Formats: sequence, C-alpha cells, structure tokens
Amino acid sequence: MSILEITQLAKSFRSGAETLCILEDVSLSLEVATVAVVTGESGSGKSTLLNLIAGLDFPSSGEIQCAGRRVSHLSEKELTDYRSRVIGLVFQFHYLLKEFTAEENVMLPSYMAGVAKRDARGKAIRLLTDVGLADRAGHFPHELSGGERQRVAVARALVNDPEIILADEPTGNLDERNSRVVEDVLFSLARKYGKTLILVTHDPELTNKGDRRFHIARRTVEEL
Ligand SMILES: Nc1ncnc2c1ncn2[C@@H]1O[C@H](COP(=O)(O)OP(=O)(O)OP(=O)(O)O)[C@@H](O)[C@H]1O
Ligand SMILES: [Mg+2]
Repeated sequence: MSILEITQLAKSFRSGAETLCILEDVSLSLEVATVAVVTGESGSGKSTLLNLIAGLDFPSSGEIQCAGRRVSHLSEKELTDYRSRVIGLVFQFHYLLKEFTAEENVMLPSYMAGVAKRDARGKAIRLLTDVGLADRAGHFPHELSGGERQRVAVARALVNDPEIILADEPTGNLDERNSRVVEDVLFSLARKYGKTLILVTHDPELTNKGDRRFHIARRTVEEL
C-alpha cells in the first residue's frame, strides 16, 4: 500500500520580479514503512520538498497524496490535524521548549491533540525509554547534551503516532558520535513502529541505510 504519492509536483518561489523554479515534474511513490534517504546539494530543494509533504507550504502545481489525503485540498482544520497526527517532524535544530522538561516536551503535542494528560505522559515515558533517555525525563533542555536533545525531539515527533516521519538533517548540528546515536534511534524506531521515514541528510554514511535513495538535482528527484 502506498503512503505517499507525489505526481508532477512543481514549486517555484517569487522573489521580487523573479520567479525561482526550485522543483519541477517531481513524481514518486512510497510504500508504507519505507525508509527513504534524500540527498542533494545545498539549495537543491530538500527542505522545500519536506515542507510540501508536511503541508507547511503548497505546490505551484501537481499533487501530493499522503496517508489517503490530498494535501493541497485540505481545509485549515484538516491541515492542522494532518500536521499533528499524520506527520512527525524532526529538524536540524531541536526546537524544544526551554521551560519544559524532556517529558513535558514529548507529551505536549499529544496533550494538545486532546489526549488525557496521564495517557500523554505514559506515551512520553515510553518513547523516552525507546530513545534511551528514561532517566532524563525530568531534565530541562539545557541540562541535556546536543545529541540527547535531538533524541528528545525524535521522541516528540513520534508521540502522536504519525504515519510518516520527516527528518530534515536531524544530525546536522551534531558531532560524529552523537550523529550515529541519533540516526540509530531514528532508524530503529521507524522500523520498530513500522513508520515511513523520509530522511534528508548530507551524511554519506547514512545513504546506504535506507530502503530507497533519492537525489535532488536539476530541479527534480531521481532515484539512485
Ligand atoms: N520561501 C522562500 N522564498 C524564496 N526562495 C526560497 C524560499 N524557500 C526556499 N527558497 C529557495 O529555494 C531553494 C531551495 O531551498 P531549500 O531550503 O529547499 O534547500 P535545501 O536543499 O534544503 O538546502 P540545504 O541543504 O542548505 O538545507 C533555495 O535556493 C532557497 O533560497
Ligand atoms: Mg534544507
């Protein structure tokens, strides 16, 4: 069963009098539980592609179908629901809230989606255990290392049980050793929970770890 179906997608940005065409004629399809690794030079459109899939931005033309939804046809309310329940996002920067503990940061999206506090807390603890940080649940972001913060961000991305995880250079700010730990956690959780994962990376070590590899160049996505 396919979870993601992208058809003749194009995206351009207008800047002043100029129109910058970033992506054109991108088509691809992913089966459920696939791990896809995406590479491409800086500025090639990797984040643009993830933003479009996440419903954070909209195509200039073409269609994205994800988890049975046509992303550009969703109402405001459906989009909010799509972003919070279908998509799990991990960025290069962790975006943890500094005044909340690791556990609170992880449970927050679940609580905001209407899950009872106790259940949200239970999920947060389980996921923090999955990422190896059960004993750090009460720590604030500034009391965690960069790698640990990023593992909390991975746990948070999974708390609403999303169907697809989009990770945009999640190890971009980490040293070699921490990068490996965060990657391992991301890959193993995607596998454990049968999630589709799209991982954007510059790290050549990672490109062979996925089920499928894509490269963005000359405004399109090719499979390697
Ligand atoms: N909102 C915007 N308005 C205008 N141009 C934009 C906008 N967002 C992205 N771009 C341009 O689109 C191109 C692709 O950007 P994008 O962020 O997708 O690249 P990337 O492949 O993620 O690069 P990096 O590896 O550096 O993160 C860049 O040239 C960028 O300047
Ligand atoms: Mg980017």
